[in-house]
Amino acid sequence: MSPICVLVGSMGAGKTTVGGLVAAELGVPFQDTDSIIEARAGKPIPDIFVDDGEEHFRALERVAVADALAAHEGVLALGGGAVLAAETRALLRGYTVVFLSVDLADAAQRVGLGVGRPLLAVNPRATMRYLLEQRRPLYEEVATAIVKTDGIGPDEVAAAVLAALRP
Ligand code: S3P
Repeated sequence: MSPICVLVGSMGAGKTTVGGLVAAELGVPFQDTDSIIEARAGKPIPDIFVDDGEEHFRALERVAVADALAAHEGVLALGGGAVLAAETRALLRGYTVVFLSVDLADAAQRVGLGVGRPLLAVNPRATMRYLLEQRRPLYEEVATAIVKTDGIGPDEVAAAVLAALRP
C-alpha cells in the first residue's frame, strides 16, 4: 500500500488545497504530513518549533513521511521542508511525486504574512526567496512530474496534476 501521488513543493505552492481537489476527483483520501505531526505532537507546528526546536520538528517529519509513504493509499502532501532530509529523498524513489512549482511573487502572495509558518516569522519575503532557491534542486531531484502553479487557480493546477498522473 502506498500513495497514488505525493505532492512536494514550497510553502504557498498550494499542496494542501490542490491535494484535496485531486484526492476528491480520484475518490481517495487526502493526507498531509503537517497534520500527522500536529496530531502526534498534540500541538500546532509553530508551538513545536518554539517549544522543541526545528531539529526536533524535522525528526518528527522524517518519521511522519516514512509512515505515510508506507501506509497512506491516497494523495499525500509533504511539508515544504521535508525534502531537506536525504533519507526522505531516498524513500521517495519509486513513487509518483509531483512538484508543484511556484515563483516568489505567487508564493509570497499565497502565504501572506506567514501566519502559522514559523520559518517565515522574520522577514517572510527574503526568507521565502532563500528557501525557494535552496530547495528547488531538491524538489526537482525527487519529482517524476513538475506542474507550474504561477498565475493559475487551484482547479487548474489540480487538473494539471491529474493529467500528469494519467499513463
Ligand atoms: C515548512 C513548511 C510547512 C511546515 C513547517 C516547515 C518548511 O509546511 O512543514 O512550517 O520548512 O518549508 P507547508 O509547506 O505545508 O506550509
